[in-house]
Amino acid sequence: MQISRNFLVIGVVFLLSGIGLGMYMAGSGDTALAPLHAHINLLGFTLMTVFGLVYRVIPAMAATGLARAHFWLHAAGSVMLLGMLALLLSGRITEAGMVPVAPFAELLVLLGVVTFGWNLWRNA
Ligand code: HEM
Ligand code: HEM
Repeated sequence: MQISRNFLVIGVVFLLSGIGLGMYMAGSGDTALAPLHAHINLLGFTLMTVFGLVYRVIPAMAATGLARAHFWLHAAGSVMLLGMLALLLSGRITEAGMVPVAPFAELLVLLGVVTFGWNLWRNA
């Protein structure tokens, strides 16, 4: 249950920042950060909310180490990846500067989804 709550609450934090960035872009007309906005909302809010609801609907999945691993892998990977994307899109680093942190962050998110899939297979 705790894992479900964590995903849902952190998801809303992402949504608030995604909407805030969307409002800034709409107001300023500067859409340079649009892919960042999209992924804060989609990787952050949308996916986390889906995960939170799945762990709520299937409680057997939530009471596992796999669920805890999934939460931390997804949260850490997303924050790292979005941070790197923010630096890239604002021109502070180049594409080459994304390596190795961004691929590592993507791997964390991917591993999280693998733990989620494995958990689904065993407990859903
Ligand atoms: C009040 C809330 C929101 C505002 C003000 C807002 C504003 C914007 C703006 C100004 C753009 C750029 C459009 C352009 O390039 O011309 C954009 C793109 C986008 N937004 Fe939002 N948005 C909001 C909420 C959301 C939400 C909740 C999601 C997803 C769950 C979302 C997903 C996207 C996507 C996928 C794009 C396209 C990004 C791209 O073209 O690279 N937005 N939004
Ligand atoms: C580790 C996870 C992810 C990575 C590395 C990733 C990477 C990317 C890249 C490189 C692009 C092209 C951006 C461009 O054209 O400038 C993109 C676009 C897009 N991605 Fe993702 N993505 C991820 C997760 C997701 C998820 C989970 C969703 C939806 C739930 C999503 C939805 C989209 C959408 C709608 C676009 C097109 C909007 C845009 O041009 O920004 N992505 N993604």
